[in-house]
Amino acid sequence: MEYKRILITAALPYANGPVHIGHLAGCYLPADIYARYQRAQKRDVKFVCGSDEHGVPITIRAMKEGITPQDVVDKYNAIIRDSFADMGIAFDIYSRTSNMTHHETSQAFFKKLYDDEVFEERESEQYYDEEKNTFLADRYIVGTCPVCSNDNAYGDQCEKCGSTLSPEQLINPRSALSSAPLVKRKTKHWYFPLNKSEAWLREWIVEGKKDEWKANVYGQCKSWIESGLQPRAMTRDSNWGVPVPLPDAQGKVLYVWFDAPIGYISATKELTPQWADYWCKEDTKLVHFIGKDNIVFHCIIFPSMLKAHGGFVLPENVPANEFLNIEGQKVSTSRNWAVWVDEYVKDFPGQQDVLRYVLCANAPESKDNDFTWKDFQDRTNNELVSVFGNFVNRAFVLMHKLCGGRVPKLHEDVMDDADRLLIEEIKSAKTRVENNLESYRFRDALYEVIDLSRKGNKYMQDKQPWIAAKTLETQPENQKLIDNCLHLCLQLTANLAILANPFLPFTAKKMCGLMKVVDRMLEWENAGRIDLLKVGYPLPAPELLFRKIEDGEVAAQVEKLHNNLKKSQMENSSSQIPSSKVENSKEQGPNSESQIRNSVESAYLPPKPEITIDDFAKIDLRVATILSAEKVEKADKLLKLELDLGYEKRTVLSGIAMHFKPEDIVSKQVTVVANLAPRKMRGIESKGMILMAQNLDGGLVFAAPIERADNGGEVR
Ligand code: 2FM
Ligand code: ZN
Repeated sequence: MEYKRILITAALPYANGPVHIGHLAGCYLPADIYARYQRAQKRDVKFVCGSDEHGVPITIRAMKEGITPQDVVDKYNAIIRDSFADMGIAFDIYSRTSNMTHHETSQAFFKKLYDDEVFEERESEQYYDEEKNTFLADRYIVGTCPVCSNDNAYGDQCEKCGSTLSPEQLINPRSALSSAPLVKRKTKHWYFPLNKSEAWLREWIVEGKKDEWKANVYGQCKSWIESGLQPRAMTRDSNWGVPVPLPDAQGKVLYVWFDAPIGYISATKELTPQWADYWCKEDTKLVHFIGKDNIVFHCIIFPSMLKAHGGFVLPENVPANEFLNIEGQKVSTSRNWAVWVDEYVKDFPGQQDVLRYVLCANAPESKDNDFTWKDFQDRTNNELVSVFGNFVNRAFVLMHKLCGGRVPKLHEDVMDDADRLLIEEIKSAKTRVENNLESYRFRDALYEVIDLSRKGNKYMQDKQPWIAAKTLETQPENQKLIDNCLHLCLQLTANLAILANPFLPFTAKKMCGLMKVVDRMLEWENAGRIDLLKVGYPLPAPELLFRKIEDGEVAAQVEKLHNNLKKSQMENSSSQIPSSKVENSKEQGPNSESQIRNSVESAYLPPKPEITIDDFAKIDLRVATILSAEKVEKADKLLKLELDLGYEKRTVLSGIAMHFKPEDIVSKQVTVVANLAPRKMRGIESKGMILMAQNLDGGLVFAAPIERADNGGEVR
C-alpha cells in the first residue's frame, strides 16, 4: 500500500511519577527517531503523545504523597513534558487525558459502542470498604500470600515472591485504606466481548502480521489469542477518571485502558482540524510505539475497540521494545532503582545526545538489555568521542591547516580507488540506514552511522594528507591529493550530519552551524550526495562535538543509585500505603487477569563502587544487645528496639517487623552503625541502625557476632 500520511503514537505515560531512561529506551526514543526520519523524508507525519492521567497508579501516588489526584497529574505532567522536551523528543503535540476534548472523545466512543449494543452488562461482587465508602481496586487489598505467607501481599501481586494474585487468593484479605473488615457488594459493569473478536484477530495478526511485526510482539499476540480471549470490563467504580456517560452509572468511570488509547485520537483532534484524515483514511500508516507490557492493549484490545466502533484505521505496526534494566537489576520505581530523565538532564547539562546515543545503541529491541554507567562511559568515550567526534574534528583541523580554512576542490584527474570507494560508502550507508529505519531496526541503523565515520577515519589515516603536505615544496602537485582527501572528508561530515540527525538532533544542528549550512541540508534526500558543501566556502574553526565522560561522574551516578535504593528502603519500611509500583499495577478491578505475566526481580544486588579504607573507617560499628522490642503503631514494618551499647543505652527503629516477632529477638546481640545521624520516624527518634544480612529470597538474618561479645565493643 502506498501510504499518504504517517501517524506515530508513543504510549501515554502515567502522570504518577517522572520518566526514567527505561521509558525513553523502550518507546519514546525509537518513536522520536522514526518521526524525525520520516519528517526528513518530507512525508506527512504526525507524532502524538500526552499524559495518561487516570487509573489506579495515580490515586495510589496521591495517597502516598498526601495530595489529590489532580495535584499528582498536574505535577507529573509538567515534569514529564519538560523531560521529553529537554531530551529532544519532538512530539507534534503532548496532550493530557484530563483535557475536555479527551473526556468528550472517549465518552462519545463509549456511547457509540453502547448504542450499538456492543457491551454486555454484568453484575459481579467486588470488595468494598464500608469505612471509606469505596470499592477497592486490587492493589488496595492486602492479605497473606498463599505462596510465601508474606502478610502484606497485594490483591494483584505479592512483591515478596513475585506471584501474580487475585484478591480471592489472599488469606485474610483486608483494606489497605482503613481497618474496616472487607465486605462484598454487588456492582454493575459494561464488558467488551473480546471473545467475539477472536476470529478476525487471528486472521489479522496470526495469519496477517507474522512477517511484518517483531517476533516478540507477534509471539505475545499469538499466545493471547490462542489461550482464548475473555470479555473485559470497560468501566470501574471510582471517582477518578472519565465518567461513564450513562444515566445509571453514578460513581463509575471508564476503565483507564479504555480511555487512554483513545487519548491518541483526542490528541490528534487537538493538534489539527484534519485529524480524521489521520485516523479514518485507509492510506494512513498508523504506528504505535510502546513497551512490551503494553502489547496486548495495543494489538488486541484497542484494535478490537476501533473495529467495533468502525471507521478507524488499524495499526500497521506496533514495534514494542523489551525492558531496559539498570546495573543488572529490573527498574523499580518503588525501590527507586532507576535513572530519572529530569535528574540526568541536570547532572549532565548539554549531554542529551550522549544519552540518546547510548540508549539507542543498546536498545532492548529484541530482548531485555542492561544499562550500566560504565557502558555509558565506554560508548561515549570510545564511539562518540574517539570515532565520530574525532573524525569531524580532524577533518576541520586539517582543512584549516592544509587548505586555508576553505572547502577544497575535488580534482577528478587525480582521484584514486580509495576516493571512489569512500564515495560508494557514503551512498550505500544512506541505503543501509534507511532500510534499517524503515524496518524499525534502530540499533542497526545507528551502527551504520558510526561505521561510516569509522570508515572516514580509516580513509584519512590511509591517505595521511599531513605527510603529503611535507612534500609540497618539491612536489606542489600533491596539494591536489590533499584537497581531494579533505574535500571528501568534509562532504562525508555533511552526510554524517544528515544520517545522524534522527538519532542525535542536537549534534546535527551543531554540525550545521560548523558547516555554515541551513537546517534544510538535513533533508534525507541530500544524503549520499558529495556536493553538499560549496568549494571555496570558508568554514570556522572546529568546536568539539562531544566531551569525555570522566570516571568520577560515573562513580557518582552509581553511588546515587545505591543511595536512592537505601533511602527508599527506609521510607518504605515506615509506610502503610501500597506500593505505587506502576510496572505491576496495571491490571486491576473487575477482571484481574492471570494472563499478565510478572517476573521476579534479579536476586543479586550489583556490586557497589570501590571505597577506601578511610571511607570504611568513618563507620562506627559496635556490638549491642537488644534489651526490649515492640511494634510501632501504624507502621507494620517497624520494630522499636532498646539497645545496650555498653557505654550507653539507646532507641533504634528497624524495618524488620515482617520478619521477626518482638519476643523472639530480645537478648540477641546485634551490630549497630553507632554514628549514623539520628532520624525521626513516626514521631520516634532512631539513633543508629542495626545490620541485617539479606537472603536471596528476601529473608533476613542478624549480622551479629557469632559468639557472645562485649556490648560497645568495636566491629572492624
Ligand atoms: O503503561 C503505561 O504507562 C500506560 N499509561 C500506557 C498507556 S498507552 C495508551 F494506551 F495510552
Ligand atoms: Zn508471596
